[in-house]
Formats: sequence, structure tokens, C-alpha cells
Amino acid sequence: MGHIVVTGGSGKAGQFVISELLSAGHTILNLDLMSLEHAKVHTLRTDLADSGQVFNALSGQWTLSEPFPEGPPPRPDAVIHLAGYARNMLVPDNETFRSNTQATYNIIEAACKLGIRKIIIASSVTVYGVAFAQGDTNFPSFPVHEDLDVNPTDTYAIAKLCGERVARGFAARFGVDIYILRIGRVIEPEEYSKEIFYSYVHEPTLWKVHGWSYIDSRDLGGMCEAALRTDGLGFQVFNATNDHITNLSPTKEFLRAQFPDIPITREMGEFEAPFSNAKIKKLLGFQEKHPWRKYFSNWEKKEIGMEEKERAKVSG
Ligand SMILES: NC(=O)c1ccc[n+]([C@@H]2O[C@H](COP(=O)([O-])OP(=O)(O)OC[C@H]3O[C@@H](n4cnc5c(N)ncnc54)[C@H](O)[C@@H]3O)[C@@H](O)[C@H]2O)c1
Repeated sequence: MGHIVVTGGSGKAGQFVISELLSAGHTILNLDLMSLEHAKVHTLRTDLADSGQVFNALSGQWTLSEPFPEGPPPRPDAVIHLAGYARNMLVPDNETFRSNTQATYNIIEAACKLGIRKIIIASSVTVYGVAFAQGDTNFPSFPVHEDLDVNPTDTYAIAKLCGERVARGFAARFGVDIYILRIGRVIEPEEYSKEIFYSYVHEPTLWKVHGWSYIDSRDLGGMCEAALRTDGLGFQVFNATNDHITNLSPTKEFLRAQFPDIPITREMGEFEAPFSNAKIKKLLGFQEKHPWRKYFSNWEKKEIGMEEKERAKVSG
């Protein structure tokens, strides 16, 4: 089991990622501007946009103790970098760009120069350019996979793409593994019974911006754990999404009806998510544990049951 530094562990996704990693037996140090109240995890309040703080934090102690253990602290086995402004419009665009790109650069540079051989970086499916486009934009084809050309136009996604390019360069230069996770909309357990998922299911035409896909916060932890287990892949980009489309229509039927002119470039599973997670399943052996239909709240399940029966009648 490893010593893993998680950045942004006090945030929405980070708390679930940390829980999954603790369950797998890892020792965690959290680097974040905000504290995380957790008995087993020390938070070192660190501004990751400051390179000196990053080098220092990655080579320091893992927790407070009196006295500190003898000898140098163990070097991290891996860094999972989640910290950052998690969308546009939290701060002015130039600050989103400055802080997010600088923090990602600092983490990658310091980790590589300190001899850390595994780095996992949070990117976003917004790099596909639809979510924060200026007006309505379409995906070029379905499924949306990692080899498509990407040209996002908004600051948050451009900053994510810059981080991907820094990662690619440093992975080649230092011969380390840097895995990029293009994360879909993070859904925490309580959100399955909230408005967002209700809307995903009942108003699917509103959700092109999320690509009718999501990632369960616990499954994101499972993806990080799978990334820690799998060595030697160098620089890789993975969509980090769950298996299934976020509404009740079979995927191909739904996409054909909405976008008759957009090509579907391969056979898709009956309910496969339009943001494909085929690569992370294949290369990292990821298996989802939390499909949304398992959690959608009870009265909605009954309603879904009825809709499914209606559909079965029509098609059957
Ligand atoms: N939430 C989503 O739906 C979603 C979707 C795609 C990608 N992502 C990405 O996943 C990551 C985690 O997202 P989240 O939803 O948990 O975000 P969050 O805002 O809940 O948490 C981000 C954390 O990063 C910390 N942080 C920000 N700037 C920092 C800095 N300079 N130094 C140290 N800490 C800093 C914040 O204090 C916060 O605790 C982000 O990189 C985000 O861009 C999130």
C-alpha cells in the first residue's frame, strides 16, 4: 500500500476519492487551501500555485507528531491532483487560468523532479468544447472518445488542456506515468435523489452540455485506485465517466433522434454513455460499482419502471 498525496482532497470529489483510497489501505496527505476534518488524513494548507510550497509539501512530513519520526519522511508513491477552480465564473477568467495552470504545472514539475513516478491529473470532459461554448455547439461524432481532436473555447477547459500538454511533455522527459482523467459531471450519493438527476432522466434534451454522462464520486475514487495499481503506461488520457447514459432511452436511438446528422462511429452498447469509458475499462481494468439506476430514489424508480414497461410495449 502506498503513500499518496491528494490535492484538493477537501473538495467535493476529493473527499470521496480519499475514502476509497483509505479503504484500499493507502496513507494519504491532503494538500488544499481548505482543511478537511478527517481523523486519518492530515491536511497541509498549501497554495499549489506557489511552486516553493509545492516542492516543500511533497517532500515533508505526512502528519503532525511529537516527536517527528527519525530520518527523512517517505517519498510519495504517487500524487493525485484534483485541486483547482472546478468551473468558470468562480473568479475572473484570468485568475481561473493563472491558478489552475500554474498549480498543475507546479505539481507535475515538482513530482517529476522529486522522483515520484505516478501522477494522476484531474482534467474534464469540458475539453470536448460543448459545455462552456459560447452558444450551442455539437460534438463531432459519437461516442466521444479520447482520440478526438479537442479545441475548447472557454478559459476553464483551455486551462485543463494546457495541463494535459504539460503532463505529456513531462511524462516524455522524465519517463514517468502521468494519467489524465477527463472527469464527467461528478455526482455524489445524495444527488441521485435531487433535481439534477431527476432532470437528467426526465428532461434529457437539456443535457448535451454534460454529454448525457456522469461519474459517481465513489467510482471516481475507484478509477484513481485503478490508476495507482496499473504501472508503465506513460502518458495516457482517459474519460472518467460511468457506463450508462443518464436517461432511459437506448443510446443510439436517442442520439439518432436528436442529432440525425452526427455520425456514430462504432457500435455502441444499448445504454452506453456517450462519453465513452471503454479505454479506462480496458487499460486500467476499471469496473463501475455505482450505476445510477441503483440509487435513483424510490418513487422515481416506480415511475421509471412504468416508463420502461411502456417502452417495452411499444418496441415489443
Ligand atoms: N465537480 C465536477 O463535476 C467536475 C467535473 C469535471 C472535472 N472536475 C475537476 O475535478 C477536480 C475536483 O473537483 P471538485 O468538484 O471536487 O471541486 P471543488 O471545488 O469541490 O474542490 C476543489 C478543491 O481544490 C482546492 N483548491 C483550489 N485551488 C487551490 C490551490 N491553488 N491550492 C490548493 N487548493 C486549491 C479548493 O480549496 C477545493 O477544496 C477539479 O480539478 C475539477 O476541475 C470536476
